[in-house]
Amino acid sequence: MPGQYIIVEREEPIAVVTINRPDKLNALNWALVGELAGELETLDRDEAIRCIVLTGAGNKAFAAGADIAEMSDKTAVQMATGPFEGWDRIRRVKTPVIAAVGGYALGGGNELAMHADVIVASEKARFGQPEILIGVMPGAGGTQRLARTIGKYRAMEICLTGRQATAQEMHDWGLVNRVVPDGQHVEEAKKLAQEVAKQAPIASRFIKEAILKAFEVPLEDGLLYEKRLFALLFSSEDQKEGMRAFLAKEPPKFQGR
Ligand code: COA
Repeated sequence: MPGQYIIVEREEPIAVVTINRPDKLNALNWALVGELAGELETLDRDEAIRCIVLTGAGNKAFAAGADIAEMSDKTAVQMATGPFEGWDRIRRVKTPVIAAVGGYALGGGNELAMHADVIVASEKARFGQPEILIGVMPGAGGTQRLARTIGKYRAMEICLTGRQATAQEMHDWGLVNRVVPDGQHVEEAKKLAQEVAKQAPIASRFIKEAILKAFEVPLEDGLLYEKRLFALLFSSEDQKEGMRAFLAKEPPKFQGR
């Protein structure tokens, strides 16, 4: 059913997307992930939206993981095919996404935060991969993205013990960009989103694409990829405008063309 779990507030040039299932700590059932992917794709196609803030409703959770009640009696085949299409669609969103984490980001919640490009957290936020505590393991990128972000040894500890790390720990380890006082995570994320949204939109999409590529290819290939995108920007009007405005000592007016 459209609009069941996700609230979208457009505040052009940004949008705030809220996971709205607070009675279950925003646990991510399959329908919710599909709906979230659909809303993010719609915003991604919208030229007026240049940065997206992703958060969770209520003051307790960003998302407390995949829905354990839903998956408890699933088969291996159902798990292999069912939930992951939505995650792949979220991964392919080209618009920069800022996660605003106000409480628990556990399991799929932490994995969802890691699908974002910047993470702002309240001092009360808690991050973890507690799947081991219920007899399984991360399945939506937790082992891979955590290891690439906080390093092998810290990722091992978090995934092998299931313990919750504080926002400050995750900040010190490089997963969280900013830790803010309780309740201010969405406002801070929105400020940052406005800052991102002011920039040249094609360039910011290319930057996201190129930085994500750094996690997938050898350096030589990544450098080539970056060089090609850099050169391609010289066919955009925004490159002409940005450089003209600099030389004229004026603020640039980027059009996303
Ligand atoms: N899946 C399904 N339901 C969940 C959920 C999840 N991942 N996380 C929380 N909920 C539900 C609870 O079942 C409870 O529902 P109920 O009120 O109908 O009983 C409600 O959300 C509130 O959670 P509750 O456990 O009562 O809150 P708490 O403050 O005591 O504990 C947590 C908070 C986050 C520590 C605890 O909910 C938890 O451990 N959740 C599971 C985290 C997890 O393992 N995630 C990875 C899944 S692979």
